[in-house]
Amino acid sequence: MNRIIPAICIALGGLSAPAVASEATFEAIKIGAGAQLFASECRRCHATDSTHESYGPPLENIVGRAAGSYPDYDYSVALEASGIVWTQAALRAWMEDNAGFMPGTKMRHVGITDRTVQDFILTYLTSITTRDGSAISD
Ligand code: HEC
Repeated sequence: MNRIIPAICIALGGLSAPAVASEATFEAIKIGAGAQLFASECRRCHATDSTHESYGPPLENIVGRAAGSYPDYDYSVALEASGIVWTQAALRAWMEDNAGFMPGTKMRHVGITDRTVQDFILTYLTSITTRDGSAISD
């Protein structure tokens, strides 16, 4: 009996060690999940840089970008005249109900209401904001 308890402690210690991930690891996992969600929900209409064809405006540096400001993109009047900046909160509202958030937009309605999914996509969008523009390729 006396020998079993320390043995269990050692076993549990050994098990828990690899399960503790660093902040950086969590961030990388969130970016990866966000990239996959972006690929399934947004990518068919949005490139992340100008070197790829895109039906909607490319979304490089979108966090903090003025709405309707991508050069030469043919925006709806509603979006161009909105005067808003794409903060995280605005992007969240847009993903949740873009047509309700901005009546008159020509982006087809998306309705991503799950906050975790929104979080992942936002983390991904933030990651392509801080990357060197010339390194953006997907
Ligand atoms: C069916 C095509 C389509 C899908 C899918 C789509 N979008 Fe869009 N998006 C557009 C179009 C078109 C516009 C331009 C809207 C306008 O001018 O009113 C736009 C505009 C935007 C803008 C404003 C950009 C700017 O320069 O002001 C953001 C932000 C955006 N989309 C994010 C997303 C995100 C995030 C997703 C995925 C969750 C997504 N979109 C899915 C077509 C799409």
